[in-house]
Amino acid sequence: MSAVVAIDGPAGSGKSSVARALADALGYSFLDTGAMYRAVTVEALARGLDPHDGAALGELAGSLELVLTPRVLVNGRDVEDELRSEAVNAAVSLVAAHRAVRAAMVERQREWAARQPVGTVAEGRDTATVVFPHAALKVFLTASLEERQRRRGDESAASVARRDAVDTSREASPLRPAPEACVVDTTGVAVDDVVKEIVACLATRTSS
Ligand code: DC
Repeated sequence: MSAVVAIDGPAGSGKSSVARALADALGYSFLDTGAMYRAVTVEALARGLDPHDGAALGELAGSLELVLTPRVLVNGRDVEDELRSEAVNAAVSLVAAHRAVRAAMVERQREWAARQPVGTVAEGRDTATVVFPHAALKVFLTASLEERQRRRGDESAASVARRDAVDTSREASPLRPAPEACVVDTTGVAVDDVVKEIVACLATRTSS
């Protein structure tokens, strides 16, 4: 498998911007695993499925056709503009908590990374702890709640807090730092400086 850098952290911790910038700097592909859970949620809502129905959602997650780039398509339908709607924000953590949904997504994430020509920077909640346990580098980003809520300006503070609570307390693959992760607090730190810190960490890990 090609090289993987795995970046986890809560909503608004800077994962997306940092992972994209790092992928650019390294010449790696960028994998937004949150977008995959959001895509399943868009389709589940369109079909009127109950976000608590793990069996139906697991079947959906395993069977739908998912394209990630250049835009997210579900069964050929472009859902990119629906991924961050309020309805999806409200349901995605419930959908993502089901083991069957996670199993289907993890398999797709590993397959996707294995197909990349150089390497992958993956970001999400469990990329370092579950999806890519042999990642060349594991990173956990944090930031103050105020800053995370500010960064997620289009999502209410209550919604961010609710997702955090569900994502960290669920039984299946809860959000937590991998024991060997570089932990970076991004509060008040520019994206480029976070990337520099991660690259420095990568250099120490690969030279030891
Ligand atoms: O990163 P994001 O905010 O787009 O993620 C949306 C939701 O998807 C998040 O609240 C929980 C879920 N998720 C997950 O359970 N595991 C991942 N690896 C990525 C996201």
